[in-house]
Amino acid sequence: MNAQRIEHAMTDKGYVPLYATGTVPQPWANYTASDHAVWRTLFERQRALLVGRACETFLQAQDAMGMGAEAIPRFDDLSEQLRRVTGWELVGVEGLLPELDFFQHLSARRFPVTWWIRRPEQIDYIAEPDLFHDLFGHVPLLLNPVFADYMQAYGAGGVRAHGLGSEALANLTRLYWYTVEFGLIREHGELRIYGAGILSSAGESHHCLESSAPNRIGFDLSRLMRTRYRIDSYQKTYFVIDDFEQLFNATQQDFAPIYQVLQQADAVPAGDVLDSDLVLQRGSGEGWISDGDV
Ligand code: PHE
Ligand code: FE
Repeated sequence: MNAQRIEHAMTDKGYVPLYATGTVPQPWANYTASDHAVWRTLFERQRALLVGRACETFLQAQDAMGMGAEAIPRFDDLSEQLRRVTGWELVGVEGLLPELDFFQHLSARRFPVTWWIRRPEQIDYIAEPDLFHDLFGHVPLLLNPVFADYMQAYGAGGVRAHGLGSEALANLTRLYWYTVEFGLIREHGELRIYGAGILSSAGESHHCLESSAPNRIGFDLSRLMRTRYRIDSYQKTYFVIDDFEQLFNATQQDFAPIYQVLQQADAVPAGDVLDSDLVLQRGSGEGWISDGDV
């Protein structure tokens, strides 16, 4: 891994380095036996955990794509399938991109995937997104037409928000955080995972559904865009959507007036519950650290 790091930035995985912004072909032939073994270990562990925890849309898409434990998938194979179904493709990157580059890729239906995978000693935790998080966690749902459209619209909204200033951008980033990364969805009356930050984490896959510590609250766009989050621990609050249509429809409106209103409103601490919330579960708050929301 000889990627060139250019600066650090606060992200969904903490304070991490940003890399060179260009796209790179996946150096598939260079993956070592150890790289493939890391993929296999993580894949097998997460799939076993996610049956009955991840939403069916995710599990079925992963199967339909032929993503399996045997070897690190080839970006080109996955892109070919995605292009046919939803018009998305994958591009290899060195790691996390600057926000505007990231938004521009999404708005053009290109999903940036980190080409390298974590080392064996990082199996349980790595601060920055790697191939396993990006590919296993994010890519399958791009096969779903509604979610695929949501991701593109998010990218376009990101380009706009970037031009509107840092507060608009912070509001929009929270939306990504609490949906694409840490979202829960109701399925057959039960809670299921669709957020990639959870799907690629063994610990949080349990925590988000089974722990009594976190709040679980019904999706509400502007409430969610006011809500701070945790980058160094499991989430204190998860937001629950009824289906992907709800998410897509809620985000069809022009966000500029919402950003305006939110400028006057205080941000909500990650673990707070408001009177106006649709509370599915009020968290016990067990194990919460009192500061560190971002
Ligand atoms: N509707 C948003 C805007 O006007 C764009 C957006 C779409 C944001 C979907 C997020 C998700 O900026
Ligand atoms: Fe991610």
